[in-house]
Amino acid sequence: MTLLVTGGAGFIGTNFVLDWLAQSDEPVINLDKLTYAGNLESLASLQGDARHVFVPGDIGDSALVNSLLASYRPRAVLNFAAESHVDRSIHSPEDFIQTNIVGTFRLLEAVRAYWSGLAADEKSAFRLLHVSTDEVYGSLGAADPAFTETHRYQPNSPYSASKAASDHLVRAYHHTYGLPVLTTHCSNNYGPYHFPEKLIPLLIVNALAGIALPVYGDGMQVRDWLYVKDHCSAIRRVLQAGRLGETYNVGGWNEKPNIEIVHTICDLLDELVPPATRNLPFASYRALITSVKDRPGHDRRYAIDASKLERELGWTPAETFDTGIRKTVQWYLANPEWVAHVQSGAYRAWVQTQYAAA
Ligand code: NAD
Ligand code: DAU
Repeated sequence: MTLLVTGGAGFIGTNFVLDWLAQSDEPVINLDKLTYAGNLESLASLQGDARHVFVPGDIGDSALVNSLLASYRPRAVLNFAAESHVDRSIHSPEDFIQTNIVGTFRLLEAVRAYWSGLAADEKSAFRLLHVSTDEVYGSLGAADPAFTETHRYQPNSPYSASKAASDHLVRAYHHTYGLPVLTTHCSNNYGPYHFPEKLIPLLIVNALAGIALPVYGDGMQVRDWLYVKDHCSAIRRVLQAGRLGETYNVGGWNEKPNIEIVHTICDLLDELVPPATRNLPFASYRALITSVKDRPGHDRRYAIDASKLERELGWTPAETFDTGIRKTVQWYLANPEWVAHVQSGAYRAWVQTQYAAA
């Protein structure tokens, strides 16, 4: 029994692989292209662990994926690999089309060929789990009910459009070829190993460095936050018991406007590392909050209705936002080397592009 995980050196993939191997001896083959977002240092604790095989490579490399499937004969493929940052998709969409659409298509083709050749019992046990996002549903008004699985697709950014396209391909491979697929739509994740281009880790890292905390527009956009390890437990549960061809929303009923997230992080840092202890010349990290130019086409509100997953599969999140965000801030405080290493030259170039003219 083996899993093939794609994108397992990124934020959620890393957490998934670490959590999986903490609970199971079933090996993981981890295929990751190691883009700027992939980081083997996050998986350092698995060095020398025979249950984890890391393979550098692209999900769109059909020959490589065919050979991995033939050699390791996984009982499931979990597709985390993607270009994932909305702002980058606005600056340069091409990579999003290549990985999220073309890459997923090629992965589906390889998996279809492999699955078609399995013996009957292996064929019926096989699963392809595609990790998607709530962003494919578009944006909600303030009074709208949360997204259910039947909400119509209305993606608004090149990122969400590319994820929507990949979801449609996954669906079509089930409908047309009978490929045993499962799709999850999760809300915004936060937690350890989160690359500091995304809001929460960016705020923590900037605050500790005493530099501006950039808030897009009026800061009243709403996101629905879930601790990453709860997303991972939902994926394990869907893999174990999800109904074939079904889609499952994943979320923790944790809607918050961005400005509240910013205040919460400042307040936690004020408590855990008061500015004076870092020789910073202000009483509260809130002094760093800076309004910047809004994201083009910025979705106003996301909210996930996860009641199908709770009802059918009995999944519930373990963390509240208060417990999860405290753990997250503490993780960043305990891992300054990880942060320093990911803030490479490429990271600095991105920050310059995104925030220079703000
Ligand atoms: P991430 O950007 O941190 O990691 C993506 C990983 O995929 C990286 O390790 C990267 O090297 C790898 N990768 C990129 N292109 C690849 C390719 N062509 N072949 C192989 N590997 C490739 O992203 P994340 O936040 O961990 O998101 C993982 C998945 O979960 C994505 O599919 C994303 O759309 C989805 N998702 C993310 C969130 C969130 O809040 N972060 C929420 C819901 C869904
Ligand atoms: O909803 C799930 C999605 O969540 C995932 O599919 C994406 O992969 C993931 O990146 C995330 O997308 P968001 O665009 O919601 O996340 P981000 O952290 O980039 O931004 C969160 C909110 O904070 C959003 O409203 C934009 C705002 N923001 C972001 C940054 C980076 C700021 O105000 N300032 C910033 O500097």
